[in-house]
Amino acid sequence: MSEINRVWRLRKRPVGELANDVLSLEEEAIPAPSEGEFLVRMNYLSLDPTNRIWMSDMVQYMPPVELNAPMRGLICGTVKESKHTGFSEGDIVSGLGVWADYQIGSPATMNKMGDTGAMPVVDAFGTFALVGPTAYFGLLDVGQPKEGETVVVSGAAGAVGSIVGQIAKIKGCRVVGIAGSEEKCNWIKNDLGFDASINYKTENVAEALAQACPDGIDVYFDNVGGEILDACLKLMNLKGRIPTCGLISGYNATDPVPGPYNYGMMLMQRLRIEGFIVTDYMERYPEALSHLGKWMGEGKIKVRQDIFDGLENALEILKKLYTGGNQGKLIVRVEDVS
Ligand SMILES: NC(=O)c1ccc[n+]([C@@H]2O[C@H](COP(=O)([O-])OP(=O)(O)OC[C@H]3O[C@@H](n4cnc5c(N)ncnc54)[C@H](OP(=O)(O)O)[C@@H]3O)[C@@H](O)[C@H]2O)c1
Repeated sequence: MSEINRVWRLRKRPVGELANDVLSLEEEAIPAPSEGEFLVRMNYLSLDPTNRIWMSDMVQYMPPVELNAPMRGLICGTVKESKHTGFSEGDIVSGLGVWADYQIGSPATMNKMGDTGAMPVVDAFGTFALVGPTAYFGLLDVGQPKEGETVVVSGAAGAVGSIVGQIAKIKGCRVVGIAGSEEKCNWIKNDLGFDASINYKTENVAEALAQACPDGIDVYFDNVGGEILDACLKLMNLKGRIPTCGLISGYNATDPVPGPYNYGMMLMQRLRIEGFIVTDYMERYPEALSHLGKWMGEGKIKVRQDIFDGLENALEILKKLYTGGNQGKLIVRVEDVS
């Protein structure tokens, strides 16, 4: 075991696009677990759009990371030393931790991963820890799609969006995905079975949507907000639903983000827009995991992980999320586990 622990610490609140000096990588001593805790060696770090939110001090759903504190992140790791009777050396755990080689875990923040069967641990972590349940509860609980309805999803080739579209197909909906490159549009249409795709970087989204949704939109699963939300609002059907999952188009904004111009559709079409955070559904995770696992086993849901090496590269890799540089769930590999 290396004697050095590399820890990313938050040094500045980000303004606009992520700069290199918002975090710094420090070499520190490896922490020692107290009674009821265990020491975890990181295997994988999940990089998520919300990392940018946690770095800021905007109003948010968890306390922001404090300045100079270790950067918070969803991690998967191996227990190296345990002072908790329920956890043993060698257990694979995942949960909310920090961007560091070694860290202290406890049952309050981390769970055992359990047997992932034939699925590599990194795939199970990438799909089940956050994005799969987000897609499942956001679409089915908040969006409540019905067979035959039209579902539009933005960020459609991303980790959450790609699963949303596939669940909507399983539920018998017509599915239209909006993504930012030809490669991503081809993937969701040809490999994932979406009915139509729109490249928002090269097409007029309002016109393309009108063509792809001849019967209007019943559910718009919003991962991005901004102009795409506005274009979708205009086509919403009576009693349509808009699960607000994320607003990534505004995460790097320096000025207040304007509200949607087509807000009047809320009244005219009696719409419901509802924000949700996946942790609201923590107690129902087993339900999502069992359905997602079954659908993946049946080949009805395909996922892809975008894995990069080196904790020291984490900040640079994180930036990919805000430019569309990732092709699936973005993960940093620190040390592989089988
Ligand atoms: N509510 C919750 O509990 C919860 C949980 C997890 C994630 N989320 C949210 O869900 C959304 C997707 O997260 P994810 O983890 O699945 O990430 P992701 O979709 O795999 O990656 C982010 C993608 O967002 C797209 N994007 C970036 N800037 C954009 C812009 N200005 N306009 C349109 N699209 C843009 C890019 O794809 P393109 O190449 O297509 O532009 C990028 O690849 C995020 O908004 C995130 O905050 C919410």
